[in-house]
Amino acid sequence: ALGRSTSPKSSKSSQMSQNRLKIQASYKVAILGAAGGIGQPLALLVKMSPLVSALHLYDIANVKGVAADLSHCNTPSQVLDFTGTAELANCLKGVNVVVIPAGVPRKPGMTRDDLFNINANIVKTLVEAVADNCPEAFIHIISNPVNSTVPIAAEVLKQKGVYDPKKLFGVTTLDVVRANTFVAQKKNLKLIDVDVPVVGGHAGITILPLLSKAKPSVSFTDEEIQELTVRIQNAGTEVVEAKAGAGSATLSMAYAAARFVESSLRALDGDADVYECSYVQSDLTELPFFASRVKLGRKGVESIISSELQGLTEYEQKALEALKPELKASIEKGIVFGQKEP
Ligand code: NAI
Repeated sequence: ALGRSTSPKSSKSSQMSQNRLKIQASYKVAILGAAGGIGQPLALLVKMSPLVSALHLYDIANVKGVAADLSHCNTPSQVLDFTGTAELANCLKGVNVVVIPAGVPRKPGMTRDDLFNINANIVKTLVEAVADNCPEAFIHIISNPVNSTVPIAAEVLKQKGVYDPKKLFGVTTLDVVRANTFVAQKKNLKLIDVDVPVVGGHAGITILPLLSKAKPSVSFTDEEIQELTVRIQNAGTEVVEAKAGAGSATLSMAYAAARFVESSLRALDGDADVYECSYVQSDLTELPFFASRVKLGRKGVESIISSELQGLTEYEQKALEALKPELKASIEKGIVFGQKEP
């Protein structure tokens, strides 16, 4: 599926696999902010997907070279580049999944909320174009602060009369990826087996890994729970500090975002067994947006999994209550911004 070369003797099977690829590759994915630190490796990973027939790369600059470079990979998707607002509508027409990593990343000492003033406008403008050109698409918001940018996107879509809460996602996959990695390391588990649900939001204490619901079931001491929870919550800052001014997580984020894209495409393709954690409109708590595990289907969120919020430990219950005021404030800030006249 990744376009590996085959021996001449295997031409029949190669032909068969090419036919299979022709049938499989049918979805169009757009990446807005594709020339950035996340956008480039994400575009590479999405270019490797056999489910993608066209990859549309949009940025305000520097995207031509990225597209030319990627287009030489012998995987099925066609790569097209779009530069600047004049080309945004064409980038989005007919697209099934739109991924938005456009905007500025954190520098040491900054919180995700410090990015609000710049990124809120960028997300608003881009989602307006999505509403006008591909209102049916799944929308994956990566730009921070996700806790606010998703409510902004929802308001923009409502104003355009095309809001489908089942198709708007805040990408929190990186929190799950980190939780899985850190738990596997701590407990010497095979990484592929580990699955830790992460709920709440995507900033500091609003990120709540539910270690009691980890699979396989593992027991932790109170100290381990505290240490792992704090490490997962601060993992983004770990990277920001290590990069020392050169940005935030890009490679692990691209990996996580590619996983979420692939899951969305599998769901669109009719796979009935696709689950991911994501920050979505939710009735799991009194907050209008909340990250939890969701089941994905052809029409987006098919159901929100409530069972993992039941039977929480005392530690998790307290952490859940503690995160609500901050998450609520970030949601309200997003809604107010989203409702504001241009
Ligand atoms: P970057 O600065 O390397 O790339 C951002 C790209 O967005 C640049 O190519 C820039 O030209 C482009 N851009 C700026 N304004 C634009 C507009 N109006 N339309 C289209 N493109 C535009 O930043 P990086 O590292 O790729 O991070 C991007 C965003 O992702 C940041 O907001 C960061 O905080 C967020 N992020 C989110 C994570 C998550 O877990 N959800 C994890 C890591 C980062």
